[in-house]
Amino acid sequence: MAEAQRVVIPYSPRRQFMPLHDRKERWACVVAHRRAGKTVACVNELIRGALTSTKQEPRFAYVAPYYAQAKDAAWTYLKRFCSVIPGAEPNESELRVDLPNGARIRLYGADNYDRMRGGYLDGVILDEYADMDPNAWSEVIRPMLADRIGWAIFIGTPKGKNAFWELWDRSNKSPDWLPLMLRASKTGLVAKAELDDARAMMTPEQYEQEFECSFEAAIVGSYYGSDIAKIERAGQITKVEPEPLLPVYTTWDLGIGDSTSIWLWQAVGKQIRVIDHIEDHGKGLPHYAAELSARGHVYAEDFVPHDARARELGTGRTRVETLLSLGRKPRVVPMHTVMDGINAARVLMPQVWFDEDKCARGIEALRQYRREYDDKTRAFKERPLHDWTSHAADAFRYLAMAYRELTPRAPEKPKPTELQYHVNDAGQLTSNMSVREIVEMRMKRKARDL
Ligand SMILES: Nc1ncnc2c1ncn2[C@@H]1O[C@H](COP(=O)(O)OP(=O)(O)OP(=O)(O)O)[C@@H](O)[C@H]1O
Ligand SMILES: [Mg+2]
Repeated sequence: MAEAQRVVIPYSPRRQFMPLHDRKERWACVVAHRRAGKTVACVNELIRGALTSTKQEPRFAYVAPYYAQAKDAAWTYLKRFCSVIPGAEPNESELRVDLPNGARIRLYGADNYDRMRGGYLDGVILDEYADMDPNAWSEVIRPMLADRIGWAIFIGTPKGKNAFWELWDRSNKSPDWLPLMLRASKTGLVAKAELDDARAMMTPEQYEQEFECSFEAAIVGSYYGSDIAKIERAGQITKVEPEPLLPVYTTWDLGIGDSTSIWLWQAVGKQIRVIDHIEDHGKGLPHYAAELSARGHVYAEDFVPHDARARELGTGRTRVETLLSLGRKPRVVPMHTVMDGINAARVLMPQVWFDEDKCARGIEALRQYRREYDDKTRAFKERPLHDWTSHAADAFRYLAMAYRELTPRAPEKPKPTELQYHVNDAGQLTSNMSVREIVEMRMKRKARDL
């Protein structure tokens, strides 16, 4: 019988990837910054899986979004790390390595995922998953793991709230998933000088996405994406209980054929606590009034947009009147341009706290609310895209304008009407009016006395 041979793969795992190598869960979702060593770690996870499998003819796969990418990113690593295994046979045309225990590791591109059909897998890596057609997983790869109860690792950098984000979200909620996030500011894997250099050449959003694993940054043209990301990191998207002793304000975007969106919020010191969000379509105002009553809060005013004062064709009543008749307290938000409203909302954002569950859809809409892109000029227009996010975003803009109305402004000092002189501590003579004011006052008096 041949003596067991000890093979040492020339790979020293980076400390940051140890939770992945040590995992017990069947599924893993790893969100990691650029150049963290994702592909190297995953290739080695496959090699270990292949060498230690006790099954008949184990099969492992590495999938990149494109076949050419799989070749560029992983093939050299796979060959290099397998080169120390006696009897390992690389097959250049099929991008696969056959190992002496009958195991096989093969590289694929999700651009042609159908070619994977028909086989089985004991383990699979989906690298740069955010760039992949999600059907590759659900239609083809997932069923391939069923016979042998195979495992899967999804790994990549974020690209907005797409299928990768959904997996990341799920991995944080399910016990059979390992979630692992590696941000460049925490891992120290890329030297600070290099990060600074990269930052200087990228937009803040790009940097946040590529090095800080932000799922928000990728929403190109987003008005509030980075603001929401900031308050989320500051812990302001969390469980927010209503203050029972304070009234609840509401801010409405009133849709006619469209959706109606309502934010429920309280002003607590300098904080705005957004406790709930209601959105629906095809329902009349009585429905929303009933929804609000059912929540049992003590309400202050209901801020509504300016056009709520317009008389409606069918009823001849204004929506302000309808709300009054429903026992609500409508108040019209001051006129403002959309851009002024958006700016006011952005200025306010650091003071805002959201209830993460009750406001989930509204927060998602705020993240995705963005400028309209003009395909012809290949540039953003100076106006927002009208889509499902607009209603919550408009209602939030009204919240910012409403809050300005509530915050007491410093009372204006009454203007002096009589000239008085004082001697200050330094012995100088001062007056309570400027020279200009004195002249104006004298002119007025003269005119009156004539
Ligand atoms: N454990 C390790 N030990 C030494 N060097 C490593 C290790 N892991 C990765 N590297 C090196 O770090 C660099 C980046 O590795 P890799 O290509 O795996 O990163 P990545 O996160 O997949 O990058 P990208 O975001 O560009 O896809 C490579 O030069 C690689 O050789
Ligand atoms: Mg890579």
